Amino acid sequence: MGAKKSMRARVAELRELIRLHDRKYYVDHLPEITDGEYDALMAELAGLEREHPELVTSDSPTRRVGGAPTEGFRTVEHAVPMLSLDNTYSPEELLAFDARVKKRLPDELVEYVVEPKLDGISISLRYVDGRLDVAVTRGDGTRGDDVTANIRTIRAIPTKLSGRRGVSEVEVRGEVFMPRSGFERLNRRRESDDAAPFVNPRNAAAGSLKLRDPGEVARRPLEAFFYQIVGGGASRVATHLEAIELMRAMGFPVSPDITLAAHIEAAVERCQEWDDRRRDLDYEVDGMVVKVNSLEQQERLGSTTKSPRWGIAYKFPAEAVRTVVRDIEVQVGRTGKLTPVAVLEPVFVSGSTVSRATLHNQDEVERLDVRVGDTVAIEKGGEVIPKVIEVVKSKRLGRPRRFRMPETCPVCREPVVRPDGEVDTRCRNESCPGRSMGRIHHFASRGAMDIRGLGYALVRQLVDGGLVRDFGDLYRIEVDDLAALPRMGERSAENLLAELEKSKKRPLAKLIHGLGIRHVGARVAQVLAESFPDIGGLSAASEEDLAAIEEIGPAIAASIRSFLASPRNAEVLRKLDSAGVNMRGRSARQRKTALTGLTVVLTGSLVRVTRHEAAAAIAEAGGRVSSSVSSKTDLVVVGGDPGSKHRKALALGIKIIDETELEELLGI
Ligand code: IVH
Repeated sequence: MGAKKSMRARVAELRELIRLHDRKYYVDHLPEITDGEYDALMAELAGLEREHPELVTSDSPTRRVGGAPTEGFRTVEHAVPMLSLDNTYSPEELLAFDARVKKRLPDELVEYVVEPKLDGISISLRYVDGRLDVAVTRGDGTRGDDVTANIRTIRAIPTKLSGRRGVSEVEVRGEVFMPRSGFERLNRRRESDDAAPFVNPRNAAAGSLKLRDPGEVARRPLEAFFYQIVGGGASRVATHLEAIELMRAMGFPVSPDITLAAHIEAAVERCQEWDDRRRDLDYEVDGMVVKVNSLEQQERLGSTTKSPRWGIAYKFPAEAVRTVVRDIEVQVGRTGKLTPVAVLEPVFVSGSTVSRATLHNQDEVERLDVRVGDTVAIEKGGEVIPKVIEVVKSKRLGRPRRFRMPETCPVCREPVVRPDGEVDTRCRNESCPGRSMGRIHHFASRGAMDIRGLGYALVRQLVDGGLVRDFGDLYRIEVDDLAALPRMGERSAENLLAELEKSKKRPLAKLIHGLGIRHVGARVAQVLAESFPDIGGLSAASEEDLAAIEEIGPAIAASIRSFLASPRNAEVLRKLDSAGVNMRGRSARQRKTALTGLTVVLTGSLVRVTRHEAAAAIAEAGGRVSSSVSSKTDLVVVGGDPGSKHRKALALGIKIIDETELEELLGI
C-alpha cells in the first residue's frame, strides 16, 4: 500500500470513527470515548486535510466548524407544507380530539403515540443519496430560509446517513434546540463578553440558526430531535413508531421518550405524568404531542390548511418551580404603597429568568410565613408577575427571623401608616423618591409606554444616580450617562435608548395610561383618548366636561382634573412634549369632518352598530361622546325606544338625528 493510499484510508477511517462517536453521543446517548480522545481524532483529521486539501469533502466532520459567512438566506419552498399543531390545555380537550378522530374512522381501533413537544425551532432536512442536501426553516410554513451551512455545524445532525440507502431522497423534520446546560454556559460567556444574554433557550436557538457566520454557529451548543419522515421516505414503514426507529437507524437523534398508548385515556395519563417529569430533562418541553400511530390512518385523516387532524399538542399548565429567597425587600409604589418583594436565587420559569416575586403585603407574608433563606415554589403564567405560591417548610434551615413591615419608608424614612381595616401600608410623603420610582416604573410598563428593559432595578439606579426625577426626564438620558451605571454595558445602554425612541410613537391612550392618574387604567385611558384630540384638549376639559363622557364617573373626573391642574404634572407633560413624545390621538390627525369638535349624545338602541362602535367612530371623526344632554350638547343621535335624553333634547331645541343620518355624517 502506497503512503498516499494509506493516508487516504486513514482519512476515511477517521471520518467513520468521528461519525460513529457522534452517533454514540447524540443518538444513542452512550458515549464511549472521552472529549479529549474525540478532540484528538478531530485534530488528526484536520491535520491530514490541511496537508492534502484535495481530500477535503463537504460532509467531512471537520467542516462542522463552519465555512465562510453568508450574505443572507435564500428562500426555499417546502415540497410539503410545514403545518403546526392545534393546542389543547385539558384532558377534556384531548377526549374531544379523540372523538373527532373516531368520527372520521368509525369502528376502527386507533392507537396513539405520546411524545414530548420540544420547545425549539422546526427544521426540514433533505438528503440526496444519503448526504445532507438542504436544510430549511419552517418560515411561514410554505417557504423558509435555507440554513444548510449553519445546520452542518451541528454535530447531532448527520451530514451522511448510515445503513442501507434504499431511497435516493429522504426528507425529515424535527426540532433544533439548545439544552438548558449549554444555554447557561453560553449566557455566562456572553455576559463576560458584554453581550446581552438570551432570555431563554428557544430564543438562543432561533438566534443561532439565523447567524450569518456558520463559524459562530459551530460554537453554539445546539442539538436536535427528529419526529417525522415526509413524502416517499416513509413508504417502508407502517406506523409513526416504526418511522422513529427508521430515523434512529439512519443516524438521526430521536427523543428517547416516545411511547405507545392503546387508547386516549392512557395518552391523557401519560401527558399528565410528564408535567412533572419534564423538569428533569436538560431541554425545554412545553407540552406533549399525541399522534395517531398508524400512518395509513394519518393519511386518511389528512389535514386542514393549518394543522393535521391526526395529531394534537397538549400544553402544560403554568409552570411552578422552586427556588430560594435571598432577601425580602420593600418596594414603594407610585401611590406610596409599600410592597414586600422576595429577592430570589434566579431561576428559569416559563421561558425567562425570574429573580423577584411580589409578596403583596404584610398579611400575605404572614399567610405564607415566608422568611429569608426559605425554599419557595413560585409560579408564572403568561405575562403575570411571578408569584410565591408556598414555602417548602421541610427545607427550612434553623429558625430564620419573621419578616416585619418597616415603620418608616425604606426610601424617604418618613413614618408609614397602615389604616385600621386596610391591608396596605403606605408612605404618605408626596415627594418621596420611592413614589417617583413607582411612577416611572408604571410609565414604562407593558400596558403603558412599554419601554422594554426598564425594570424596577434600573429605574432605581436612574433615580438614585440623579439621572431622572420623573418620567419626563427619561427622554433626556444620554448613552454615556447610562453606560456609567454599574452592570450596564454600552450595548444595553444603546438598546434602552432605542426602546425609549420607539416609545415616543405610542398611541395617546398608552401615554394617558402611563401618566398614572388615580382611577385611570387602560380602559379609561382608551375612552379619554377617543374623546379628545390630544393631551391639550384633555387638559382644557373641565371636571363637568369629563364627567359627561360615557364611562367616566365623577370620582374619575375629579381625579383627572386634579392631576392635570398640578403644576408639577404640567411640567412633566411639557418635558414629554418637547422630547417629541406623541401627544395626539388618532382623531386629531384626521382631516376635519362634519363632527369635528361637536359634542354628541347617543340615546335609544342602535341597530347596525353597537354603542361602543358608534362612540369610537364619532371620536375617530373628531367628535366627543357625552352621556348626558345639556346646553353644551351639539347633536343627539336617537335610536329605538329613546327615553328622557330625547325629551330633554327636544326641550332644549338641540339638533336630533337618527342612526342613518349619523352614518351619513360619518361617511360609512
Ligand atoms: S409533529 C404539524 N412532533 O411543534 C406538523 N411537532 O405546532 C407535525 N414540535 O411546528 C408536527 N415537538 O415545530 C411534532 N414531537 C413533536 C414536536 C413538534 C415540537 C413543534 C414543531 C411544530 C410545532 C407544532
